[in-house]
Amino acid sequence: MKVGIDQIGFYTPKWYVDMANLAQARNEDPNKYLIGIGQSKQAVIPNSQDAVTMAANAADTILSEANRDKIDLILFGTESGIDNSKSGAIYLQHLLDLPNDVQSVELKQACYAMTAGIQLAKDHVLAHPDKQVLVVGADIARYGLHSAGEPTQGGGAMAVTISADPRILAIEAESAHYVADIMDFWRPLYATEALVDGKYSSAQYIDFFKRTLTMYQQHTNTELSDLSALVFHLPYTKMGLKALKSILNETSESHANQLMKNFEASRVFNRQVGNLYTGSLYLSLFSLLVNADDLNSGDKIGLFSYGSGAEGEFFVGTLQTDYKKALHADHMQNLLRNRVEVTVTEYEAMFNSQMPLQAEDFETNYREDSAKFYLAGQQQQQRV
Ligand code: CAA
Repeated sequence: MKVGIDQIGFYTPKWYVDMANLAQARNEDPNKYLIGIGQSKQAVIPNSQDAVTMAANAADTILSEANRDKIDLILFGTESGIDNSKSGAIYLQHLLDLPNDVQSVELKQACYAMTAGIQLAKDHVLAHPDKQVLVVGADIARYGLHSAGEPTQGGGAMAVTISADPRILAIEAESAHYVADIMDFWRPLYATEALVDGKYSSAQYIDFFKRTLTMYQQHTNTELSDLSALVFHLPYTKMGLKALKSILNETSESHANQLMKNFEASRVFNRQVGNLYTGSLYLSLFSLLVNADDLNSGDKIGLFSYGSGAEGEFFVGTLQTDYKKALHADHMQNLLRNRVEVTVTEYEAMFNSQMPLQAEDFETNYREDSAKFYLAGQQQQQRV
């Protein structure tokens, strides 16, 4: 039985900062951010959006009368959780008006958690083929104003439904994992911004990619040339380019050119949003499927997921007949086209008011937010 991604939804808030302007404000050459980091625009997250509301906005686009009754499990991957105890998935079950018998759990392993959700969902559907699982990844990537990580911030959410006979991508049974206890990127409970050893994290990412790709090839007798495209977790789009370039000498020149061309298609959307943490790999997959012009049903796509700390997984999916028809490409393109640019000063003010984690009551700037789901504030230590 085929099991995999039946639908893909996306959400990012409507504000962004231009990376050339940010570079100038930080006394950097704009090409460092545009080419060296590989980012053109960065999503700016208002204080009226958090991981839960962004996840709800993404999931809402792929729920319909046809799949609502079939969903019996919500798996919510995030590293921007709003509560150390209560799962964000319970808020989702309520906001999305899903039935009370839907099992709802939050998962954490840095940027890897949405992939963990998808793999667990795949096994759940194999055991219950008439059911579907809603898997969501939502995050705010925060390193701090003037930090080295600042040009690699961003935020938003991806949502997928996992089902039997999926319309978009059937996920192969085999995958390769590599796990090691390292400190490349982490966020202690007291911190609202990530701590990171930037150069070390980038080197570990490539090491995990090469290890899991090799393990996958050995376990499954797969040749690199069997894969029409490789998609990556993209903390910044140059990171995926570096990983791809590290293995291009292992294939023919024409196949290397095909992988490079498809990589360009896979980073179009990530370039405009920045890091989504858990959702980044799936935004890149979505970008590939919408923007590549030489993919066909039956083509195999390799996916590399990486979550700092660290866990990597390489797995493969097969494109399904009419996958293009199942993508909500217009919705995504309208969302990105209709965004509003803010100045660097406005971005800094929004950044400083983001993610209020405090005991006192507060109200957000929700009146400026046109999203369907938003955080209005907090009353008596409960988010509204
Ligand atoms: N024109 C073109 N390119 C230029 C340039 C110019 N004028 N000036 C500089 N560059 C290039 C540099 O040569 C460099 O390229 P390479 O990486 O290919 O060598 C690139 O721009 C970046 O320059 P620096 O290395 O000097 O940048 P930096 O030290 O300021 O920081 C960073 C870069 C380490 C990525 C930093 O932004 C960071 O720490 N980011 C967060 C960590 C991160 O994203 N890690 C990724 C792996 S971890 C992960 O994947 C999980 C996750 O989501 C966080």
